[in-house]
Amino acid sequence: MNAGKQAPRRISENAISLALGVAALLWIPVSLVAQARSPQQTAGASQQSAASEQSSALPRPAPPGIKTAGEAFKNVAVLTDVPADQLIPSMRYITFALGVRCEYCHVEGHFDSDEKPTKKRARGMMKMMFAIDNTYFSGHRAVTCYTCHRGAAKAADMPVLADVISASSLSANNAAPPALSEAPGPANSPAVISATASPLPSVREILEKHIQALAGEAAINKIKTRVDQGTLDIPARHMHSAVEIYRKSADKILTIVHTPRGDSSQGYNGSIGWQTRGDEVEEVRGDDLMHLKDSAALNPGLNLQKNYARVELTSITKIHGHDAYCLTASRGAPATDQYYFDTQSGLLLRVSTQIDSPLGAIPQDTNYEDYRDVSGVNTPFVIRVARPDGESIYRWEQIQANVPIDDSRFDKPAEKPKEAPKEQSAPKH
Ligand code: HEC
Ligand code: HEC
Repeated sequence: MNAGKQAPRRISENAISLALGVAALLWIPVSLVAQARSPQQTAGASQQSAASEQSSALPRPAPPGIKTAGEAFKNVAVLTDVPADQLIPSMRYITFALGVRCEYCHVEGHFDSDEKPTKKRARGMMKMMFAIDNTYFSGHRAVTCYTCHRGAAKAADMPVLADVISASSLSANNAAPPALSEAPGPANSPAVISATASPLPSVREILEKHIQALAGEAAINKIKTRVDQGTLDIPARHMHSAVEIYRKSADKILTIVHTPRGDSSQGYNGSIGWQTRGDEVEEVRGDDLMHLKDSAALNPGLNLQKNYARVELTSITKIHGHDAYCLTASRGAPATDQYYFDTQSGLLLRVSTQIDSPLGAIPQDTNYEDYRDVSGVNTPFVIRVARPDGESIYRWEQIQANVPIDDSRFDKPAEKPKEAPKEQSAPKH
């Protein structure tokens, strides 16, 4: 038996449901998107762009040495060459683009089965989509499942009458991502800049005002660790849990969610990202790892000009009744992140970002509310993370700064033996 690390290891059903469950639960306030996503730090992203330089056709293959979906899964025929860790994000994307659940295409517990015609249909759709993009858009992901399906399994072939009423607003938004519940994204009709009379501040002025709004650089730098304690609500899942987040020196984070079925945790120790549910431990990779690293930042929205290749003021938008400057930040890729700063207070109100996949991107808005003083620094006590399937709401009851936290708390926990019979008396080694 080949025990070497190179042996392709198939991903078990158990691991799939683990990854999904935890991702759903802890798809954490990417919010905290202050940390750098420099090429060295984001292995996943840089691999992607390296791969995209090699090949201009979709889907972009995994770079050499990275396990592909074809190697990791049993029955993948189209997404064969994409990195294995991008398969589940692609699946999540499909569910949002078509407004369906996994079971629409999959037999529960047998993801590899091709029993459902919808799954076979979807495979053909993927091929069609890649062919359109490769043939007519020079390998640029212009047409996605959402372009035609718009959140419905049955793509319409003629205009729906009810749409006539809102036709004017729809046509302006033809390429908009699915509307986020209770949190309209950047595509939802921001005020045009020229509509404002007063002179606009520079990006630098907006960012400087944000630092002053938090408390000023000196006070911010005094905080080395933070412990946030409160609750996490996910109304769409009828979930209400106690949650704690520990952060240290802007590159370490540990989140523990106490659910009725046991604790789930997720952490990043500065080099390895991981998540657990029950006794299972898994490493976090790809875009999820990038967002996990970002979430380690103590204050989101700092160092934008350092972390992004380009930051521009693109609009002024109303967020929860406040006028906000929208700064669009990009790293050179077509995807951009939007940071919304209150024109009056200077505080960060929202970060709009996306989780990418080979089939399309899933939008995510993180809203910051109820800023209060924590050891001299203005800190949000309510964080709402909105995705197409609903909101996750973090409400902090207590936030403590500079509590000593041992570095080892952020390390990946040792894996406990899986399904070891209870009677087993002696360990194997
Ligand atoms: C619209 C149909 C559709 C939906 C909805 C869908 N999938 Fe898939 N899934 C597919 C297709 C098609 C493939 C095969 C892709 C290929 O051949 O490249 C696949 C493959 C998979 C595989 C690989 C299985 C194996 O071992 O070969 C997993 C795992 C999977 N999907 C999980 C999910 C999960 C989890 C969800 C819900 C979040 C989901 N899928 C939703 C169509 C779908
Ligand atoms: C260019 C437009 C277009 C794109 C892009 C597209 N679809 Fe479709 N899709 C359609 C149309 C149109 C139908 C309905 C065809 C019919 O009536 O037979 C359809 C039907 C389907 C069906 C069958 C639905 C049912 O219940 O019968 C599935 C599943 C599906 N698409 C999945 C996908 C997935 C997954 C993607 C992205 C990989 C995708 N489609 C991309 C246009 C598109």
